Amino acid sequence: MKKKNIRMQQPEIDRRTFLSTLGWFGVAISGAIAVMGNLLYLKPAVDYGPPSRIRVGKPEDYKEGIKEVMENDRVVVVREKQGFAALSVKCTHLGCTVAVSEGGFSCPCHGSQFDNDGFVTGGPAPAPLDWYQISLAPNGELEVDKSVKVEAGTYLKA
Ligand code: FES
Repeated sequence: MKKKNIRMQQPEIDRRTFLSTLGWFGVAISGAIAVMGNLLYLKPAVDYGPPSRIRVGKPEDYKEGIKEVMENDRVVVVREKQGFAALSVKCTHLGCTVAVSEGGFSCPCHGSQFDNDGFVTGGPAPAPLDWYQISLAPNGELEVDKSVKVEAGTYLKA
C-alpha cells in the first residue's frame, strides 16, 4: 500500500495573531464610532425654522390704505389711519395663502372670505386671521414678531 503524502499547509498567520488583529480592528471601529458620535453631537440636528421677527421696511414706505403682502413671510402689513398692523395671510381653514381682495382677504383654495380685520365673512374658515405684534425697531424700521399674537384691531400708532 502506497502512503499518500498529505502535507498540511501552515497558515500564513497563526491563530493568535489573527485574533489579536481582529481585536484591534474592533477597538479601532469602536473608537471611530465614538468620535463620529461626538462630532455629530457638536452640530445639533435641530431646525429652528425661519426667524419669527421680520423687518418690513420704514413706516414712510407705506401709504395710508395700503396692504402690503410679504409672500415669503406670509404676513400682510396694513396701514390705516389708526396706524400699522400685521396680519397673517395663512388661511385658518387648511393653510393656503389668502390674497388681498375687495373688502378684505379671500382664499383661493376653498373660497373663504375675510374682512379687513381678518374676521371670517364666508366660506369654511373656522377662525379669523391672526394679528401679529408690530413695533418700531431701533433702526427705525417696522418689525413684525410672528411669535406674538395680538388682539384684532391692535395698531401701532403711525
Ligand atoms: S384653505 Fe382657505 S378656504 Fe380652505
